[in-house]
Amino acid sequence: MPNTSAINERFHAAQKIIKDAAQLAKNMQSAPGKATAELKGHQDYVTEADRAVETFLVKELSALFPDDAFLGEEYGATQSGAFRWVIDPIDGTSNYARGRNRWCISIGLMHHDTPVAGIIEAPTLRESFTARIGQGAFLNGTPIQASKTDKLREAMVEIGWSPYVPEGWYPQKMGALLTEGSMPRSLGSGALALADVACGRSDGYHEYVIFLWDVAAALVLLQEAGACVSPFLKNGGLTQRTPILACAPLIAPSLSKTLGVSLD
Ligand code: IPD
Repeated sequence: MPNTSAINERFHAAQKIIKDAAQLAKNMQSAPGKATAELKGHQDYVTEADRAVETFLVKELSALFPDDAFLGEEYGATQSGAFRWVIDPIDGTSNYARGRNRWCISIGLMHHDTPVAGIIEAPTLRESFTARIGQGAFLNGTPIQASKTDKLREAMVEIGWSPYVPEGWYPQKMGALLTEGSMPRSLGSGALALADVACGRSDGYHEYVIFLWDVAAALVLLQEAGACVSPFLKNGGLTQRTPILACAPLIAPSLSKTLGVSLD
């Protein structure tokens, strides 16, 4: 594990830079309406802002930390180094492209293959989630914790949808939740859905498969906030899209069984 000051130095720099990136994204967002975006595939959007924000973040961070590596959603991996910045320039692009508020910029910092810090900045929600390994998780500077919900029939659980979901999967998972009396949600940003679990506003998030850049920052938040998370990295998440389940600890066994996702 690197010394704390190397993590802190990077975290504080990223906290400043992400605010400028958030302003850039806000300035580029279209008014509500039909999606203003290119399509990478069916219902899979990319906007000019995704590329502009990633380019900006890599430029600013690499100027300060020239030996660090980068992995971004739009431009992939560049350089190698003990520290690696894992960037989703706009998470919730489908919301962003329609002028909705629920999107964020997610920056995870990894040391080799271990997530050590994360910032999830949601400017139109006026929310900033931050965490460093061993130093707690925060929402707008206030400490956060996963919820104490202990029954599925009192739980609110989000199921993510992406174009990778096979036919029939989504209604099956929603049906399983409804059978247990849980309240379902689906809001279009994996990073913010995981941050919601970390701060206790939601009791669980499950997605069929998701990429490292969507979750790298949130993994630190979830760990620091005492949530349970399936072994995303061990299951292949470092290199390929991989299933994830994150949830409040007291419903972990029952939710894992209901959704058919192992937490071990
Ligand atoms: C997507 C969103 C979406 C999730 C997908 C992600 P993007 O990220 O987080 O909610 O279901 O798996 O890829 O494309 O908006 O950065």
